[in-house]
Amino acid sequence: MMRSLIATLCVVFGTLGSVCAQAQTAPVQSANIMDVQPDASADPNYSKQTNGERSKVQPGNNAPMWRQVGGGVTGTSSLPRSEAPEAGNLIQPFVQYPGSRLTNAGEAWRQVRNNWLIPYGGSFILIVLVAIAVFYWRVGCIKLHDKPTGRLIERFTPFERSAHMVNAAAFSILAISGLVMAFGKFFLLPVIGTTLFGWLAYALKNAHNFAGPLFAVSLLIVISTFVKDNLPAKGDLNWLMKGGGMFSEHEVKSGRFNAGEKVVFWAGVFVLGLVVVGSGLVMDKLLPGLDYERSTMQLAHMVHSVSNILMVVLFMGHIYLGTLGTEGALEGMKTGYVDETWAKEHHELWYEDVKAGRVPAQRSAVAASGAAPSTVQT
Ligand code: HEM
Repeated sequence: MMRSLIATLCVVFGTLGSVCAQAQTAPVQSANIMDVQPDASADPNYSKQTNGERSKVQPGNNAPMWRQVGGGVTGTSSLPRSEAPEAGNLIQPFVQYPGSRLTNAGEAWRQVRNNWLIPYGGSFILIVLVAIAVFYWRVGCIKLHDKPTGRLIERFTPFERSAHMVNAAAFSILAISGLVMAFGKFFLLPVIGTTLFGWLAYALKNAHNFAGPLFAVSLLIVISTFVKDNLPAKGDLNWLMKGGGMFSEHEVKSGRFNAGEKVVFWAGVFVLGLVVVGSGLVMDKLLPGLDYERSTMQLAHMVHSVSNILMVVLFMGHIYLGTLGTEGALEGMKTGYVDETWAKEHHELWYEDVKAGRVPAQRSAVAASGAAPSTVQT
């Protein structure tokens, strides 16, 4: 009897003990993804819920978090800002770049590039190219009216010519490679196919990277070499008002460089040249003190594209006038010397300065070694 009582008590207390133990170690009830609550969205605050609140009513629904990611909200990251300035931010915040809709910055940049820079930039370049061709067809090369005298004046020193030549060569490589990178898929890819175009674009991109620094350095030399004779002078406004006399018999008088050349110098070489170089250096992450984020690259790319399109257009005019458009101009840049007739007809004030001895007809020291043309008038 006593034995059966003890056994009964053991069972009762044993059961109670295990119940208590179970109550103490009961596992945490996690949200079950299968507990779908179709009516959770009826809550008036549903759309304002944080990700934590949402997971209580709809486990596994991370829409609030992804909405924030899509809206450009930056999360936390343990990476140092100096090494990864955009860690924690997957999609950039909303912006409206000129010409884009209000959207995340990556998409806004894409819209500016694809809807504006490529179609309008490309059309602008083509229109100017056709205009130059029509001008050449209708007006033709500006020829000398009088016969050459055979007496030469030194227009460009060897140093000036070398600086110009290096700069022009670098510019040509940059312009051709840049145009293929931007527009090649429209006019080259359909002709040469994807494999060849891929290789070509890859090779030209590398050529672009090498020619860039060469252009930057030679640009600074060109600017400092030619700045003195491109300073505004009396008569420049008159030259511009009359379009240089391009459509009349005689050119308007000008100094060593006419007002048209001065516009190209200040607008094209100085302003656009420096902007193009500056934005290129930003894209190469070479300018110190900047935060190199995606938006930095997007802005630098848009500035680089616009300034390059303008520069290409301006220099198409410069190259045309320096080659096909003006008889003897390229000769002057190639040899350094122009005939007196050329100087008188194109830069009469400069010619008068040379004649009056205010400007030397022979500027470089080459004459001393006897390498200069013997006909130089001194
Ligand atoms: C790529 C082909 C180029 C050709 C064929 C070319 C041709 C010429 C010629 C013939 C002249 C002499 C004009 C004169 O005697 O008045 C000249 C002058 C000049 N060129 Fe070029 N050029 C080219 C590119 C460039 C580039 C890329 C730059 C600078 C970014 C440049 C800057 C200048 C400057 C500063 C002058 C002196 C006249 C002035 O200051 O306006 N050229 N060029």
